[in-house]
Amino acid sequence: MIQRDVIVIGAGAAGLFCAAEAGKRGRRVEVLDHAKKVGRKILMSGGGRCNFTNMYASAENFLSENPHFCKSALSRYTQWDFIALVNKHGIPYHEKTLGQLFCDNAASDIVKMLMKECADVGATVTTRCEILSVDKQADGYVLSTSLGDYQCESLVIATGGLSMPKLGATPFGYKLAEQFGLNVLPTRAGLVPFTLHEEQKQVLSELSGVAVDVSASCNDTAFREAMLFTHRGLSGPAMLQISSYWQPGDTLHLNTLPHENAHTWLTQSKADSPDALLATCLARLFPKRMVQILIAYHNWPNKPVKQLTHSELEAIAETLANWQIKPNCTEGYRTAEVTLGGVDTNELSSKTMMAKNVEGLYFIGEVVDVTGWLGGYNFQWAWSSGWAAGQVA
Ligand code: FDA
Repeated sequence: MIQRDVIVIGAGAAGLFCAAEAGKRGRRVEVLDHAKKVGRKILMSGGGRCNFTNMYASAENFLSENPHFCKSALSRYTQWDFIALVNKHGIPYHEKTLGQLFCDNAASDIVKMLMKECADVGATVTTRCEILSVDKQADGYVLSTSLGDYQCESLVIATGGLSMPKLGATPFGYKLAEQFGLNVLPTRAGLVPFTLHEEQKQVLSELSGVAVDVSASCNDTAFREAMLFTHRGLSGPAMLQISSYWQPGDTLHLNTLPHENAHTWLTQSKADSPDALLATCLARLFPKRMVQILIAYHNWPNKPVKQLTHSELEAIAETLANWQIKPNCTEGYRTAEVTLGGVDTNELSSKTMMAKNVEGLYFIGEVVDVTGWLGGYNFQWAWSSGWAAGQVA
């Protein structure tokens, strides 16, 4: 039987960070992961450059049944604390946009940093380890694994969500929570591209590769960012962001002229160049390929704008400002960046991340029902929740 003070299951962002923090307190820590490699999502993240935090991270950037739950951890270990750690390790980074911080070189800089933090405090990391069973005993937990049996006082579950099974995602954390009587909220894919109904897809897939600035809204939330047409449907930051607020059957509202009033713009175009065709006017705003498709798709009359009747102009302006699309579905966990839902925060202490009714059992990172927006927020949650558990586990 291998004895440890703390066992962390999951060598991803939250697990590695928590292990280093617990190790700093002199705890004997071991991280166990079934994958061959640690931190695979970190390595894949941010297009290989890891958007490791966001300068403007706050509780408003997270979705949860209990939006207050994340406040404690986020305020006790902030983005500035993590940035200081990145600075301490001499990792070069830059702000890409909207406070999003990316490594200049490679995401592997972050994984190396986490592994060094663990090594410095003697926290060991073991890969290719299948967890076969977990049992609670009077003085802690006994784990039966493919590499033998372990005994520990504190058990931290950092096995993440269901997104991207090919990167090692499993429902382990949810099942373990249920085994110990914790409520698990229904999960669904978040930060994920939309698929379209066949008819829409046939027309709009011709725009595959075209990106436009939009304000996308659904269920009282709006994001102004780029939308990308793909051969399967709609993607790009605006779509990924709004996907976390979308439920099957909901309609997306797209303002394709977020920088100006569509009606004023059309009226002005009519006054400035009355003989220009509608397509010519629209081509001042959108790629030519998109104009042709928009006109055909919406059945707009492509005539000189001076000939547009009041009601035609109104209808075109309304569609530009509020193009309503009902997606068929999302691409699901296969391509989703995160999983919404998960271990019910009512079951956990927001200060320590320990289960309120199960002494010594902690849940951190994405397995918990706290999901961030696109832009470095999900890693910040991994660091903050990992830190919180690391102070006590
Ligand atoms: P994470 O998924 O990182 O780690 C879980 C670990 O548990 C894995 O190592 C896994 O192998 C292990 N595990 C799972 N089941 C197990 C089992 N049964 N037994 C043993 N081990 C098991 N976020 C962000 O803020 N900025 C970004 O740039 C990106 N980019 C990005 C790109 C892509 C492609 C994806 C898929 C996701 C992102 N994200 C992101 C989201 C971010 O990666 C995610 O929120 C964090 O990695 C979550 O950290 P966790 O440690 O909770 O889980």
